[in-house]
Amino acid sequence: MRTKRIQNNQIMCESEKKGFSKIIRTMPWLYSPILQELKDREGETLCDVACGDGYLLELINEKYPNLKLNGVDIDKDFIKNAKKNLSFNFKKMDAFKMKDQFDIITLNLALHHFDNPRKLIKHLLSTAKKALIISDQLRPETETELHQRLEKRKKFVGNNETDYYDENEKESILEAYSESEIKRIFKDFNCKMKFIDNDYYKRFVCVIDKEDLNKRFGLN
Ligand SMILES: C[S@@+](CC[C@H](N)C(=O)[O-])C[C@H]1O[C@@H](n2cnc3c(N)ncnc32)[C@H](O)[C@@H]1O
Repeated sequence: MRTKRIQNNQIMCESEKKGFSKIIRTMPWLYSPILQELKDREGETLCDVACGDGYLLELINEKYPNLKLNGVDIDKDFIKNAKKNLSFNFKKMDAFKMKDQFDIITLNLALHHFDNPRKLIKHLLSTAKKALIISDQLRPETETELHQRLEKRKKFVGNNETDYYDENEKESILEAYSESEIKRIFKDFNCKMKFIDNDYYKRFVCVIDKEDLNKRFGLN
């Protein structure tokens, strides 16, 4: 049977936020697709949209200390924690309200929180001077694949599991877009798209090169 996306895009509750901050630090591979796409970039400004508690920015700073880092998230607790623990520039803000321009915009593990992802991509492209880089998990297309992947996940996470994810991982992964939905969402954006399937969930990373788009369509 085919899976259907659960459209439950509310802001995370307190226990989910704590569980999320703990468990993602044991899974840096969820951040590597974007990290890899940033190579050869120096001295540029970067804003991580829907940055959560800033973990991706922490990893970017370790690998590329010459980038000027910023983060925005709609959640006040995540932003409060990020400001407390990290020295980058953080703002509590809805992604759709962003007006400041940055050379690079990143969006990790967050596209599935938006019910109108094409509108979001267009908006983020209007704030990115050079590139927009998006990565997220993919929802398995069938129930059988979902169960196989949940079993595989248990082996990966082992004792690092938090109570919240132990109970809610299935619902959480069903919130994601599937590979075929992602292909439709990014259609016509002229992007470089990669699918990654090294661990328990398939993911994608997509780079939209704004300079290339501008050249192609004679903009600016
Ligand atoms: C699963 S978390 C990912 C956090 C972070 N990007 C990471 O990779 O660790 C999704 C994030 O999207 C944020 N978010 C959801 N809707 C948003 C919106 N409209 N504008 C900005 N952030 C939003 C949530 O507050 C949450 O921090």
